[in-house]
Amino acid sequence: MAGRKEKIQPFHGCGIAIAILVGIVIGCVCTVLLPNDFFKSGSLKVASASCERVKMFKAEFAIISEKNAELSKQVSELTEKVRLAEQKTEIKAGPFGTVTGLQTNPTVVPDESVNPRLAKLLEKVAVNKEIIVVLANNNVKPMLEVQTASVKRVGIQNYLVIPLDDSIESFCRSNEVAYFKRDPDNAIDVVGKSGSGSAVSGLKFRVLREFLQLGYGVLLADVDLVFLQNPFGHLYRDSDVESMSDGHDNNTAYGFNDVFDDPSMTRSRTVYTTRIWVFNSGFFYLRPTLPSIELLDRVTDTLSKSGGWDQAVFNEHLFYPSHPGYIGLHASKRAMDIYEFMNSRVLFKTVRKNEELKKLKPVIVHMNYHSDKLERMQAAVEFYVNGKQDALDSFSDGS
Ligand SMILES: *[C@@H]1O[C@H](CO)[C@@H](O)[C@H](O)[C@H]1NC(C)=O
Repeated sequence: MAGRKEKIQPFHGCGIAIAILVGIVIGCVCTVLLPNDFFKSGSLKVASASCERVKMFKAEFAIISEKNAELSKQVSELTEKVRLAEQKTEIKAGPFGTVTGLQTNPTVVPDESVNPRLAKLLEKVAVNKEIIVVLANNNVKPMLEVQTASVKRVGIQNYLVIPLDDSIESFCRSNEVAYFKRDPDNAIDVVGKSGSGSAVSGLKFRVLREFLQLGYGVLLADVDLVFLQNPFGHLYRDSDVESMSDGHDNNTAYGFNDVFDDPSMTRSRTVYTTRIWVFNSGFFYLRPTLPSIELLDRVTDTLSKSGGWDQAVFNEHLFYPSHPGYIGLHASKRAMDIYEFMNSRVLFKTVRKNEELKKLKPVIVHMNYHSDKLERMQAAVEFYVNGKQDALDSFSDGS
């Protein structure tokens, strides 16, 4: 509609030009046909001057017509663009039960220039534009050995180690594990080589950014877990962030209403609170979207300015809503199945004591709750891979 109006408007100016032109032509004709009667004196001079002007106006008219045609074309092109844009943003709500928000954000356009060397490596190692990434330094080498053995056993191809020191690099080389040695980076070198588990943990948020910028979906894995199946067959890929949970049952993992009691409020003493056990920042999948990259940036920024435990910071950014002085992150989230992506509390407090749950085969087990990680990883392999039914029995619930 707007287009039609635009197209007509330029002709208003021309109409006036045409009217003037027609007037002059009539003047000319009269001068030629009725030279003496119509104009009293010097009429020929006037006539020739008028005809000159007619030519001039005609030339101008031609130019304007041409410009007008060009403008009309541009207007109609723009109108089409506007129409297409409106089609994309104009959303009508469908009937009851048919409406969903946007969970699956568009992926970013891959930008190889952020790290051409990594881009080249990922072309070889990644499968379907997805990759498992593990950071490791020499402190965790025994666990990395158990993990890489489990990766090979399951036949996972797209597994990549980021060695934080030479010892892990040579381990990868001699065991034919794909690895990517980062370019020298002060922050990473200092923390990575000697750092404790939690210090290294904070690094991963920095390291992962380039993978997402290159357009890859990244499954970040800590080193204290074993793979029992290929996780890529068990992802939903419908959210920016898909993470394993620290929860131990449906309520704690997927959310519940925790009633807070305040007797001083008498009849309205019950206060509802929304609770969820945290997402585990040692095993999560990020789609290469803007909210995922924003999450990494926010966590890195908070850790560098105020410190803290990376897992707590990760969850605060994921779950706190916007409020005065703060704009929340708008990322879509999914908690992974607690029996497929199993934490060590679920394994040792519940599953190993339950005959039905013992028959399930998890995708991974993560020894996040326990400090004797290596022994429990080896025991999980004995139990799930080698079928040793009592392999988990000697361990305590806690540690
Ligand atoms: C937990 O959730 C799963 C999936 O919704 C369901 O199949 C299962 O029965 C639930 N377990 C309990 C104890 O409610």
